[in-house]
Amino acid sequence: MTTNKKLTPSTALHPIVTPILNVKTETPRNKRFTLSAAPIARIATPGQFMMVWIPGTDEIPMSISNASGDQVEFTVARVGDATTALHKLKPGDLLGVRGPLGEGFVFPKKPKGKALLLVAGGCGTPPILFAATTALETGFAVDVALGATTSEELLFQQPFKELKLRNLVVATDDGSEGIQGTSVDAAAFLLEANSEYAASLACGPEGMLVNLNLLLQKFPIPLQVSLERYMKCGVGLCGHCIIDSKGRRVCHEGPVFDVKTLKNSDFGRWTRDSTGKRHPVNPTDTTCPS
Ligand SMILES: Cc1cc2nc3c(=O)[nH]c(=O)nc-3n(C[C@H](O)[C@H](O)[C@H](O)COP(=O)(O)OP(=O)(O)OC[C@H]3O[C@@H](n4cnc5c(N)ncnc54)[C@H](O)[C@@H]3O)c2cc1C
Ligand code: FES
Repeated sequence: MTTNKKLTPSTALHPIVTPILNVKTETPRNKRFTLSAAPIARIATPGQFMMVWIPGTDEIPMSISNASGDQVEFTVARVGDATTALHKLKPGDLLGVRGPLGEGFVFPKKPKGKALLLVAGGCGTPPILFAATTALETGFAVDVALGATTSEELLFQQPFKELKLRNLVVATDDGSEGIQGTSVDAAAFLLEANSEYAASLACGPEGMLVNLNLLLQKFPIPLQVSLERYMKCGVGLCGHCIIDSKGRRVCHEGPVFDVKTLKNSDFGRWTRDSTGKRHPVNPTDTTCPS
């Protein structure tokens, strides 16, 4: 079974201008925004994203952290100009949103008695919350490895607890909550008890995704990773987010990729800044890029 659905070109290219319905402070760095955007909410799948236009500031990519009924949510870490401008907005203020964009996670056909291992690191947690909710609704057993730098930056611990997860293992870099370590250490902890997963779905800093891929080499568990690259158009036109010689674009063929298809790509090696200049990815850096 696949949860991917075709893009709706009208909402991918032309923003829906819509008021913010609710803003919730989730951590000192993260706020969750709820919007009314039925054409996006009705077809969005976990791992897809939206281009969010902040009038007078910028348009930036944001993963969908939930979609239900006519409402869609995204969760913003304050890192620079656009995200700071977003954090200042209140219910009633207007935003433009285009989407849902890209290809999300593909749930495997459900092999009886198997589960999914979802791994979320810091800034990568929003799409994993949406994936966990959808996977449970689809009938999978779900284990989540959730990591952050400190306990106060642990995102969505409460919403994850409210889901009927089979296991939730938390890790913090400073050991202020759960295991001391990263979400990859939390995943290793889960794998010690049970390695019978149909797939692993992950989002977070690229160093974390590289380490998770290394860990999963020891297990026959297919891994899908959601990548982050600097985006301009968000719909495959400008080529800014190309990650390999085949011309695959993170905004169009991704942001979720089967890690096996990333062997000869920039994954874990190169990223680009807003000017297009390439910079090496530091695979030992497990903090969020932005
Ligand atoms: C598919 C996708 C989904 C995303 N989902 C979310 C989400 O759910 N929540 C969230 O908070 N953020 C998400 N991001 C990241 C978010 O888009 C950036 O943090 C945002 O664009 C930064 O804008 P800014 O103007 O505030 O910061 P800027 O001033 O533009 O940048 C601040 C710093 O972050 C770096 N940076 C900015 N964007 C990126 C990037 N894409 N990759 C690497 N470095 C970058 C800049 O080089 C700079 O050092 C996502 C990005 C992508 C590509
Ligand atoms: S951002 Fe333009 S092709 Fe991906």
